[in-house]
Parts: sequence; structure tokens; C-alpha cells
Amino acid sequence: MEVEAEQTRNLIHHSHKYAPSASFVEQANLKSFEEYKRLYDESINSPETFWGRVASELHWFNPWSQVLDSSDKPFFKWFVGAQTNLAYNCLDRHLELHGDKIALIYEGEPGDRLTYTYRQLHEETCKFANTLLHLGVRKGDRVAIYLPLVAESVISILAVARIGAIHNVIFGGFAVDSIKGRILDSTAKLIITSDGGYRRGRVIPLKDLVDEGVDGCPSVEKILVIRRHPDRQLPCKMQEGRDVWYHEVSQGKSLSHEAQHMDAEDMLFLLYTSGTTGSPKGIVHTTGGYMVGAYLTCKIVFDLKPHDIYWCTADVGWITGHTYVVYGPLLNATTVVIFEGAPDWPDKARFWDIIERYSVSVFYTAPTAIRTFMKWGDEFPNSKNLSSLRLLGSVGEPINPEAWLWYRTVIGHDNCPIVDTWWQTETGSILITPIPGVTLTKPGSATLPFFGIEPAVLTETGEVTDYGSLAIKKPWPSMLRGIYGNQERYKQGYWGMWEGKYYYTSDGALTDEDGYFWIIGRLDDIVNVAGHRVSTAELEGVVLEHHSVAESAFIGIHHDIKGQGLIAFIILRQGNVGSPKLKQEINEIIGKKLGKFELPEKIVFVNDLPKTRSGKIMRRLLRDVAEGRPLGNTTTLADPSVIDHIVEEFKLS
Ligand code: WT7
Repeated sequence: MEVEAEQTRNLIHHSHKYAPSASFVEQANLKSFEEYKRLYDESINSPETFWGRVASELHWFNPWSQVLDSSDKPFFKWFVGAQTNLAYNCLDRHLELHGDKIALIYEGEPGDRLTYTYRQLHEETCKFANTLLHLGVRKGDRVAIYLPLVAESVISILAVARIGAIHNVIFGGFAVDSIKGRILDSTAKLIITSDGGYRRGRVIPLKDLVDEGVDGCPSVEKILVIRRHPDRQLPCKMQEGRDVWYHEVSQGKSLSHEAQHMDAEDMLFLLYTSGTTGSPKGIVHTTGGYMVGAYLTCKIVFDLKPHDIYWCTADVGWITGHTYVVYGPLLNATTVVIFEGAPDWPDKARFWDIIERYSVSVFYTAPTAIRTFMKWGDEFPNSKNLSSLRLLGSVGEPINPEAWLWYRTVIGHDNCPIVDTWWQTETGSILITPIPGVTLTKPGSATLPFFGIEPAVLTETGEVTDYGSLAIKKPWPSMLRGIYGNQERYKQGYWGMWEGKYYYTSDGALTDEDGYFWIIGRLDDIVNVAGHRVSTAELEGVVLEHHSVAESAFIGIHHDIKGQGLIAFIILRQGNVGSPKLKQEINEIIGKKLGKFELPEKIVFVNDLPKTRSGKIMRRLLRDVAEGRPLGNTTTLADPSVIDHIVEEFKLS
């Protein structure tokens, strides 16, 4: 972390400020710093007034008796006693004014395209909801969703929310063990999947992976399978009695359905994310507060207007997809674009082609993608008309100033504000971000807090400092409500650091003289690979499944495109010799069990790992080796000679 902190100090020192253009400000939802400050102060000093007013812009079947209940910290409750439904607010609420407006534009990788108006999306969601009810799914049941990014991902999420069941979306890039772990922990009753999806022209056999994943999961009663193509089937097996085709079972189901009235604190979804121990944790989000957070951040941070065409490139399998592909934009009656495939298929102009074709005005993507586009060259974006763009967003990891400036110039033609949005699966919605018509941006900084958020950079003992641990002082509506099945871990892990006074983010950060926040990355053993949270402990557990592996340490090091890449240091059992074949086998295990995006850049076979006398692996030293730096302090090592051998092996690998 020291290395990143030093680099960030340099950035702060040299950074320029970029103001939004006069024409952007003129049309912006929020136009001045004074206006931001006034609302921000209100949101901090009178959160109940502020959030109560925002919530009133949405539909509630029943009003709340209290905006925030802090009587049982850190188990905060928002909009106590109120009833609502997310799908109702995303769809039914808009039918009168926006029924014929396009809600969803879908483009498949092979080029198939569909659009849904708000009315059509409502009908499809109701039909799906009625089908789920027909299959026995009820309020409170857990439903896993493992799909490519097709229209049915959005429809099925909304349908599950509509009937009051709990969705657990599993990213389509996850493999068998990742699927199994999530299904076992959530005891899902039904799984929604498809016969396949496309990635770079290849069919991904999602149903086959689910079949393997559910093996040994007794909670699963039914697998509902969507045909990727309406008119033909991709190869997959169907098990009598368990598996049903959506196009068959949904036939004749009604296109209307009365949304289930949900308590504001009823669970809306579970989303698993990597923690510092081996198994991912099920982050719990509830209904009312999440809805209010998704709605307001989307409206203010993306400056949404009725005519916007909004494209967030995240998969619905991540929190970004939940909040900023599905819920946030639909709550704002926006037109949402989704795209199934890869940015370089069939060619490297595919994203820009989509922006041109649909006249996308607001575009939200990740730094790793931006750096990839930069490497491919300006000719691809330059070959398309990107003049419809008016606002650009970034999320997932710190964005380096080179990428930020390229994004601004080549994609935004110097007239789109960039919002670098910091948040987490746990936070539910954006917490630190520029307000596009207001904030002077500095490349590399997520700038200032959103409404209701009071961040602080703290030392371990809780003193405010300019470089330390990022903490959040107040509860906010879309915050996680816990870890599924483990509320003690929630309490300890997120609120235990400073005796319940602050939420612990696990991120390191700096502040500058303007009070801007500069996030530098995780302080725990999570590696951010291309914007995906990867747990080194989980990887270390999985490689043990190879019979030759005795022990391992995975670390994250700087990677020019992915932000961070993984390096695996592996000790083999007695009698085994490291070989290319063994490396391949270890990679196969990771790819098959967890997912290909978790593969290491390099595997290094070593005799020993650098450990302290108490047996803790000194990952900092491994990073020094892998990033080619002089070694830091080695005096606490149990056996200092270990590291010389590792340096040699690293060079040879
Ligand atoms: C971690 C959360 C939230 C959506 C995607 C990731 C890192 C996220 C930024 C940013 C610097 C960022 C943090 C955070 N992160 N956005 N704008 N600048 N770092 O969600 O998988 O829960 O990961 O992503 O390290 O803790 P996630």
C-alpha cells in the first residue's frame, strides 16, 4: 500500500482541475456547488428530512412511521413500517406517463436485437412472475439467476422482486464451485438459467455448468431454462421432473400481476462477494433503503433526463449491474442499453458501434476497459460517431490519470464530465463521486461524498489523518443489512474496527487540501483483478485440491491493463517437481472451479514461503519480489534465507 500511497501523493501534487462545460451546467439537474453544499449539509444534519423527501418521489403502498431506526446498532432500519415493491416502482409507476417509451434495448453478441417499451417490459415481467408462482416460488424464497446478459436477466430479476422472492444473481463467468457455494449457502429453491450464451463467438454452456453446480444441493427443486434463441435450442440436457423450459411453462400465463407488498426491510437480494476467508459472503440488501439509494444516486450522479439513452457495461452479476443496469435507471424511467458480448467481437469498434447505433448519451464503464481501448488505439472510437455522449462514468478500481485523460479526450471529445464513482457491493449505491454539473474533477480522484455520506480517513485507532483507512461515519439507506446467516461477522467485520462508530470499508485512501478523496485500493487480502474482487484465501483453498500442491500464497501486483494481476507462489508436496504441465493443471482447476477471470498471470514453484515467527505469510515481501523492488524490512522473518530462493525462482518462472 505504501507504494500506491506514494504514487497517489505525486498525483495529488501535480493534478489539474477540470470544470464541467457551461453548456453541461446549464442543463444539469444540479448546477452549483452552493446547491450541492446546501443539500449535503441538510442530508448530514437532518437525514430524516432529506431522505424522507427523496423517498416521497417513489411509490409506497404504506408510508413509514420512522425514516431511520438506529436503536439496535449496527442493525439499522430505514423507512420503518413502510411497504413498497421495487418492480412496481421500476415499471407500473411509469406506465401512465412512459408506457410507450423504450425501457430496454438489448443487443446480443451475434447481433440479435430487441427493444421493450415500459409497457412491454411490465407485461414480460408479470408473465415471468406468474410463471415463478406457478412453479411454487413464494415470498422469501431464494432464487438463483445464472444467465448471459440478455433481456431475460433484467426481466427475471424484476419478476423475482415482484413476487417478493429474493434473487441471488451469479455472474455468468463463474464456474462450478462458485455456483455450488452460492446455492448451498443461500439454499436456493429455483435456478433460472439458459441453454447458453455467447462470448467471442463461442457458446458458453451455462446449463451444463449449472447441472454440475447443483449436484449435491438438496434445496434446488426446479431449474427454469430460457432458450437463448427464441426459435432454436443450444445443446443441453434436461432432467425430467426438475428442469423446465421457460417458453413452455410460461405459455398462457397472464400478462398482469399485482406486485407483492414488501416491507421496507424485507430482503430484496443476496449478492455474494469475496471476503478475507475462503468462502464468499452473501451480502444482504433490503427493499426500501436500497430503492431510495439506487434512485437518487442514479438521478444525480448520471444527471438523468427523460431523453437519455443510458449504457452501463457491467454484467448484472455484479452489484454495478444490480444498481446501475437494472434498478437505478428503471426507477428513473430511463432507456437502458444492455449488450451480451465482448468489446472486441467481431471487432474492436463494437462498443463504439453500439453507442453510435443507439445514440447513447450516458456511458458507465470500468478503468480496465478504458485502458484496453487505449491500447487498441484511437482509430476504433474515431471510426464511429460518438457525439451523442454527454456524460462518462468510471467504476471498480482507481482510474489512472492517463486513462482518465484518454477517456475524456478520445471518448468524451473534451466536453463530457467524468464521474469516478467509488462504492462497494456492501454500500449498494455510489458513496463518493463527483456531481457532474458541479464538481471540479481531478483525474484519479473520486472527489467528494454523495448526499448523506460522511467519509473519513482514519488511523487504526480512529484518529483522522490524510492517509489511512477509509471509513464511513453515518448509516445510509442502501447500506448492506448483514451477511446472510452470519450477523456476527457483519457486526465485527464492518463495524468492529472503531467500536461501532464507523463503517470499515477495507480501502486505503488519502485526502488532499480540497478535502477530495483518493482511493488507493484494498487493505485486506482481496485483489482487484480487472475490477473484480478476488479472494486470495479462496484461491489458496482451491489449488489445494490438486494432489501435488502442499501450500500456496496468491498476491496481487500491478498490471497495466487489469489494474492488478495475480501471482501464485506454490509449494509442492514432497516428491513433485514443478513443470509446465503442472502449471496447466493448476490453472485448469482454478478455471473450472472458480472462473477463468481468476487465473494467475504467473505461477512460481517455491520450497518455502516467507513467514513471520507466528506463521503469517508476509505478502508484502512477495509483492516486492514480484514487482522487482528492493525488499522491505525482512527482520521479522522466521527464516530470512527463504526469500533469496524465491527471488531466484521468480526470475526463472
Ligand atoms: C471495491 C468494491 C462498486 C462497484 C464495483 C465494485 C474498489 C470500486 C472504485 C473507484 C477506486 C474503487 C474498491 C472497493 N473500487 N470503485 N471508483 N475508485 N476503487 O464493487 O466488487 O464490491 O468492489 O472496488 O477497492 O472496495 P465490489
